[in-house]
Amino acid sequence: QNQTITVIRGDGIGPEIMDAALYVLDAMKLGLQYEEADAGMAALEKHGELLPAATMDSIRRNRVALKSPLTTPVGEGFSSINVELRKRFDLYANVRPAKSFPNTKSRFPSGVDLITVRENTEGAYIGEGQMTSEDGQIATLTQKVTRKGSERIVRYAFDLARSTGRKKVTVVHKANILKSTSGLFLKVAREVAAQYPEIQCNEMIVDNCCMQLVMKPEQFDIIVTTNLFGDIISDLCAGLVGGLGLAPGANIGADAAIFEAVHGSAPDIAGKGIANPCALLLAVGQMLDHLGKPDEAARLRHAIVATLEAKDSLTPDLGGEGNTMSFAKAIAGRL
Ligand code: NAI
Ligand code: MG
Repeated sequence: QNQTITVIRGDGIGPEIMDAALYVLDAMKLGLQYEEADAGMAALEKHGELLPAATMDSIRRNRVALKSPLTTPVGEGFSSINVELRKRFDLYANVRPAKSFPNTKSRFPSGVDLITVRENTEGAYIGEGQMTSEDGQIATLTQKVTRKGSERIVRYAFDLARSTGRKKVTVVHKANILKSTSGLFLKVAREVAAQYPEIQCNEMIVDNCCMQLVMKPEQFDIIVTTNLFGDIISDLCAGLVGGLGLAPGANIGADAAIFEAVHGSAPDIAGKGIANPCALLLAVGQMLDHLGKPDEAARLRHAIVATLEAKDSLTPDLGGEGNTMSFAKAIAGRL
């Protein structure tokens, strides 16, 4: 019963927002156990490598990790640890909710409640076939979309709709131009959609989708799309509802899931104790849903919204005069 989760404190503001998130999670008294593991610069300093085997083992064992942002060192031979984790655990679904919050200076303080489900392992990001001609005049790369990859991500989106009582899935594509890759994705999406008759499925071409999102985001419920489009659209959606400090994300596979804030390690404010802990806390909410505790996830979200509504101890990025820990305490006090 006492579930253990792997906790990666990360770099930059990582440890600060993790302290705040765990403070709130502890206040919920769910009996979760934490197993700390290192990754990123913190791991490089302590263990001489960015992604130690012990960290991989911990995630493999616990199957659930809460991760703060990691700094990827600049320079030859370092690939992104986040990309590496997605690859190694085949975390094929990148799930990013975007919901209106009060008092965030956002363009849509109400009305937006959507989830982007992004295919996380293939498409334009497979890193294959990257070539620039010798004279530097021509560059190419390979995109790969598979039936299996498309099927499991679309199925994930429809299952998510079912389990959360959502009514509509929008398949976002560019099959009119990218006939092979996006074409296969759309074809498979239609086949999967037919198995979920109670959920409305509509199709939208990605450029139109971007315009629709900016003009009428209320029309969207769940969006499912390929890797590159999903990367761009999910950031666009985060921008609609308050930006980086409020954007959580989950990377989900069959054997493991990693929950994180969308933002990075924010070196410009690290060590000052003023980072907004909300994005990581909202990721904790996603994690509680994943652990089969939807009521606890809702309880946490309500406490966050109530704290935003009251403008109680908000961090400077939200125009407040609070700090990371006072914000977390204000949230914990409203649980
Ligand atoms: P960033 O997201 O760290 O920062 C962008 C801007 O947003 C900065 O001005 C920062 O102060 C602000 N910001 C970010 N999170 C905030 C928070 N919680 N509260 C208040 N303000 C916040 O992006 P940047 O500067 O491009 O990347 C910094 C480092 O983070 C890089 O090493 C990058 O590789 C890494 N990174 C890691 C990610 C991850 O681990 N998932 C994701 C994105 C970047
Ligand atoms: Mg991105």
